[in-house]
Amino acid sequence: MRSTNILLNPGLIILALTATALAGNARAAAPQDTKEVWRVPSRHARKTNPLESTPATLAAGKAVFVRECLSCHGDAGRGDGPASKDLEVKPADFSDLQVRKQTDGALYWMISTGRSPMPTFKDSLTADERWQVVSYIRTLAPPVEADPLGGFLESYGELHAALGASAAAPAAKAAAALAKEAKALAAFDPPKFSKTEGAAWTTQVEELHQAADSILAAKEDLGAIRASFAKLSAPLAASLKMLPSSGREVLRVFRCPHAFGGKAATWLQTGEKAVNPFTAEPPDCGELQDQIPRPSPRNHDGGDKKEGDPVIQAGIGAASAPPRG
Ligand code: HEC
Repeated sequence: MRSTNILLNPGLIILALTATALAGNARAAAPQDTKEVWRVPSRHARKTNPLESTPATLAAGKAVFVRECLSCHGDAGRGDGPASKDLEVKPADFSDLQVRKQTDGALYWMISTGRSPMPTFKDSLTADERWQVVSYIRTLAPPVEADPLGGFLESYGELHAALGASAAAPAAKAAAALAKEAKALAAFDPPKFSKTEGAAWTTQVEELHQAADSILAAKEDLGAIRASFAKLSAPLAASLKMLPSSGREVLRVFRCPHAFGGKAATWLQTGEKAVNPFTAEPPDCGELQDQIPRPSPRNHDGGDKKEGDPVIQAGIGAASAPPRG
């Protein structure tokens, strides 16, 4: 029997045990940082809540929440319920941007599916009860507007992480997702731009599209992926600035002066500590160049024309700047 063979295969068992042990260690060391992205299949994320958010729906949702969820998620949904202390994974804080930017369909799917230690509620709650609790969660943490660049940013972040770890296969996987997002972005019709802005937007999106396609074509060639990845920085940063969104974390633009031998390159990331995607040596090469959005409006000196951000002119600089003394 096939299953018996698998069970008796010592290599597989050792692999499985090692993987479990590694996952356990990683979680124990830094529960939040190592948490894998909980990806919701897009056809589920697109589902809309069939129930209206009436007082009756919310009251029913609250009853479900108090009975089934409060022990872990806490009465205000901050992830601090009485049972949360004993869990190796912190329950989601519904006020986190991460949760607020999920669609109702995505929340419904996650509640239905569960992910250890969160149980699945597919069988213990009816569909109505699950939608009711989604509506109730929304009152604890109102949703944020959808970010048209959100999908692209997410894939970009995954590719960045894979390159930072020099992991070719995950990079190729993220590249496929990125190419898809770039295509979707090209089909997106941006709102109320002036003619000049519209033209700039179209050029940027075309650059993103081309770079994403080259990354995809590079398959698992890390060097080629990195060269094209660098070309995403400038058009991406410009696009993010043109289309601000409340549903977005702060993005930091970093620059390593010698990312490619003698050449500089920039990239975007959410974390404060530079994770250089271009070379493992030195891994921490990267100076903060810019933040999107800018942390303080103090730099505004009158006119609303920002003198062309000197920071990001191109992903790859012409040559390395002379070392500063
Ligand atoms: C045993 C504790 C526990 C219970 C009970 C529980 N959860 Fe969770 N929940 C968690 C944990 C832990 C996570 C984080 C899981 C992960 O990311 O791997 C989570 C994550 C979630 C998320 C995902 C948020 C996101 O965007 O990542 C939602 C939504 C959620 N819970 C809703 C609920 C609802 C609604 C109920 C009740 C019907 C419930 N949970 C019951 C522990 C629990």
